[in-house]
Amino acid sequence: MSKKTEFASKIGLIAATVGSAIGLGNVWRFPAETQANGGAAFLLLYMVCVMALGVPVMLAEFSLGRGGRADAVGVFKKLAPGTSWWLVGAVAVLTPYLIACYYMVVAGWTLEYFWETIFGSLYQGVGTIPPEALQGQFAAKMNDYVCTPLKPLVFTALIIAVNIIVLLGGVQKGIERLSNVMMPLLFVILAAMVIVSLSLPDAGEGVKFFLSPDFSKITPKVVINALGQALFSLSIGMGILITYSSYYPANTKLTRTSVIVALLSMLVAVMMGMIIFPAVKSFGLDNQPLEGATLVFVTLPEVFAQLPFAQLWSSLFFLLLLVAALTSTVSICEVPIAMLQDRFKLSRKASVLIVMCPLFVLSSLCSLSFSSLEEFKILGLTVFNLLDSFTTDILLPLVALALCIFMGWFAPKGLLKEQLTNHGSLQSPTAPLSIFVIRYVAPAIIIIIFVSNYF
Ligand code: PHE
Repeated sequence: MSKKTEFASKIGLIAATVGSAIGLGNVWRFPAETQANGGAAFLLLYMVCVMALGVPVMLAEFSLGRGGRADAVGVFKKLAPGTSWWLVGAVAVLTPYLIACYYMVVAGWTLEYFWETIFGSLYQGVGTIPPEALQGQFAAKMNDYVCTPLKPLVFTALIIAVNIIVLLGGVQKGIERLSNVMMPLLFVILAAMVIVSLSLPDAGEGVKFFLSPDFSKITPKVVINALGQALFSLSIGMGILITYSSYYPANTKLTRTSVIVALLSMLVAVMMGMIIFPAVKSFGLDNQPLEGATLVFVTLPEVFAQLPFAQLWSSLFFLLLLVAALTSTVSICEVPIAMLQDRFKLSRKASVLIVMCPLFVLSSLCSLSFSSLEEFKILGLTVFNLLDSFTTDILLPLVALALCIFMGWFAPKGLLKEQLTNHGSLQSPTAPLSIFVIRYVAPAIIIIIFVSNYF
């Protein structure tokens, strides 16, 4: 059998994993949740959830991937042959595929906004519009860019094309190379935007909101949201961490890698807060809810429009989102691609095309659910919203739960310990604690999150 593909370097392996973790979850879901749930109190809770629960569950996925050295289905076939556990792997491949369908569309919007900022009409004539009319103006633009059939479709197709090019390059020459360029770029843009935002007139007020906790806002529901945010933002339950860690060399230190990924992912969330809260506060926009799409595509353009060099900040911002989204989309597509390559012994090229062509059709349906297919509803939801809530509320927690149960109770005895200590060659004082969380704490908490979603 040919040697299993591996990442070429330690930096590349971290860049790719961090690239997957840092995505639209950090850059837009996080600020919205933080604003709604008490600012710094939510931030603290989210950080505790990432470190106490996210890191151990990430370690369970890493140990499964590197221990099994196969795709998300193959690891179960190898480690639990003759059982039905591989079905969990199958769901862990289906879930990212369904997520990819709508995530590609949002990634397409970020490209569209980047394009429209530089070459199009996003800021045309805004200097002549009074500030109070700006919001209406940008809401109308969003309608124009997102809720018409053709334009967003073209940009979704472009994003899928870029993904195909990267994925055809394979693990080292495609994914790793992309991540090695994109991650430093992401941090440079983030740092520049933090500096700009902090130098705005009322920045201090925004920072104060973000960093002074209001613990009275913490309710069980807020705790659950923080947990959900922690799991989503670390790409847990998506098969990605299993697939990527199957490309980790035998000497990669899993605990250290997971802590670095978690810290960088939290750093990005905090930097995003440092950009958004001072900016919206300075322009008195902090009393409107910072909900997902409106925050990014209406409120922030409104902020940029009132700054000197509006187009510069706007293009940098949408480039930032695009970079964050791209390294996530390739990671999510790699899951089914690796499965086809491993299970069915298909070539890379065939696997990429088999995954990406139907994805284009499904993404188109998601894109059109804001225009031509707006009225087409299943269970009262558009295709886009159906896929979003079915994956985030149901499939992700189920996969994460099944993974913890498998790794904690059913995987070959000693596998977790072996992987966390690199077969005994590493000291890992935290290993027993991680194993305890994987066996008892994580399953209990995930069941609570899951059940509470329905009450
Ligand atoms: N952690 C990612 C994010 O925050 C989750 C994700 C990865 C979603 C890949 C889609 C694709 O966006």
